[in-house]
Amino acid sequence: MEYKKLNNNEKLPFVSYGVYEIDPKDTKNAVLNALNRGYTAIDGAQVYYNEKEVGQAINESEIPREDIFLTSKNWVSNSGYDKTIKAVNKSLDDLQTDYIDLLLIHQPFGDYYGSYRALQDLQKDGSVLSIGVSNFDSARLVDLTMNFDIVPQVNQVETTPYFQQYEANEIMNKLGVAHQSWGPLSEGLDGLFKKPVLLEIAEKYDKSPVQVIFRWLVDRDIPFSCRSVKTERMEENIDIFDFKLNKNDIKKIKELDEGESPFNDYNDPETAEEFNSEII
Ligand SMILES: NC(=O)c1ccc[n+]([C@@H]2O[C@H](COP(=O)([O-])OP(=O)(O)OC[C@H]3O[C@@H](n4cnc5c(N)ncnc54)[C@H](OP(=O)(O)O)[C@@H]3O)[C@@H](O)[C@H]2O)c1
Repeated sequence: MEYKKLNNNEKLPFVSYGVYEIDPKDTKNAVLNALNRGYTAIDGAQVYYNEKEVGQAINESEIPREDIFLTSKNWVSNSGYDKTIKAVNKSLDDLQTDYIDLLLIHQPFGDYYGSYRALQDLQKDGSVLSIGVSNFDSARLVDLTMNFDIVPQVNQVETTPYFQQYEANEIMNKLGVAHQSWGPLSEGLDGLFKKPVLLEIAEKYDKSPVQVIFRWLVDRDIPFSCRSVKTERMEENIDIFDFKLNKNDIKKIKELDEGESPFNDYNDPETAEEFNSEII
């Protein structure tokens, strides 16, 4: 699997298998299936409530632990120095592993300064190899980097044809923070897979519109996390390394950019309330 080198020289595979909203009873088989289909990275989180099952799958698979890139995310209700240390140790237990490859602060809410201090210490003791944040807009990201010694390795933010994040990408590149995309398909909202521009490019390369979206991210040097529980789609979603978009294709896809998320507005008080209300 092709990868992006992080600012600490760790290697983040371009494709991660996301386990958001996969029922715990289906998670072990889904992850085993993904690993057997060639996925080398699993993108999980405490708040997905399926870390035990991810751990079981990794443990039962024939693949050596060091060949799997494992991500977890620390939830808002576990923010603050002490709670983060405790929560990450629980993730390590649930995932049945001695280390997590990438630990992200899941949301820019709660005491994330305390959490980031904890992540720096966990990284120093080897419990986590890389640290970062998720859903941090550019101002929050700049603020964080100006107040800590360790520049986050990753910022995982929603990045899709509808929300292309060019400005945020420029700032992340300037800071040396790797931009990772979540939810790249916008769950197929508003007929995304039937947009003429994607159909036209897909036809040219004999690929599907979904593969064009994933390749568009790779060609922008943006690793991503995607999810399907269906074997055929799992295979389709990683079969993207035998073609390449040109500059003109990428320019054409810009016409789909709406400049904002169809799901979350991080400046909406209701978003802050919603994420602070989920206690895990
Ligand atoms: N950091 C964050 O705050 C955050 C937030 C959201 C997500 N994430 C991460 O990003 C991952 C992906 O996001 P997501 O799960 O919300 O959405 P997504 O990957 O954009 O879309 C998933 C949906 O697309 C469908 N799908 C997948 N492959 C397809 C294909 N080839 N053709 C047609 N439909 C396809 C899936 O259906 P089927 O399963 O039925 O195939 C599923 O309903 C998550 O699992 C999680 O790891 C992170």
